[in-house]
Amino acid sequence: MSDDDKRRAAEAALREVQDGMLVGLGTGSTVAFLISALGERVSEGLRIEAVATSVASARAAAAVGIAVRDFAEVARVDLTIDGADEVDARLYAIKGAGGAMLREKVVAAASTRMVVIADGSKRVEGIGAAKLPVEVLPFARAFVTARLEALGAGVEQREGVTDNGNVILDARFGAIPEPVRLAAAIDAVPGALGHGLFLGEVDAAYVASGGTVERIERDEG
Ligand code: A5P
Repeated sequence: MSDDDKRRAAEAALREVQDGMLVGLGTGSTVAFLISALGERVSEGLRIEAVATSVASARAAAAVGIAVRDFAEVARVDLTIDGADEVDARLYAIKGAGGAMLREKVVAAASTRMVVIADGSKRVEGIGAAKLPVEVLPFARAFVTARLEALGAGVEQREGVTDNGNVILDARFGAIPEPVRLAAAIDAVPGALGHGLFLGEVDAAYVASGGTVERIERDEG
């Protein structure tokens, strides 16, 4: 894991930001580099507005002079740039180590284009080794835990609550041979409000390793 590579990936993705855009800001340490570089471009005259996927990112963006709109009033975003915990060549990703995956998924779904930025430690052959966070209505905690265990996960409740006042269950599957099936199974559990499997949302990824940035673009065919 390298901060230089995180910065490089962020700066490469920043080139996609154009005047007049409404930009979705992800959450996490890689996005922190993006927010700071975007703030510099705004101070140089770039005219954009942003929505944020977490209270932390909204605060960080406002602190560097980026105009942040309330996403509750927004239905469509031009471009969202977000981090990931794992991403593979199919642009399947696991997100949510920072606990923001529910808002991140909503903002990604509202976005015309969504790109992931990451250092090379996040690039994997197949997703599934990372813990898969699931945001859960506190009322449904034990029930959703049992359902995740039945799907084969070891489950741990994370300390604290999300920006939405819910709890997070970290589900460890070890490997996820059928991500689409697993995502559908978790989506079907009442009380599970969102999870970190991003299977169709990511249009491209900028992954920086040893100073070189690779862009992986979703195969349109
Ligand atoms: C936040 O909930 C996450 O989805 C982050 O985007 C992800 O964990 C990547 O974070 P880092 O850039 O800090 O590794």
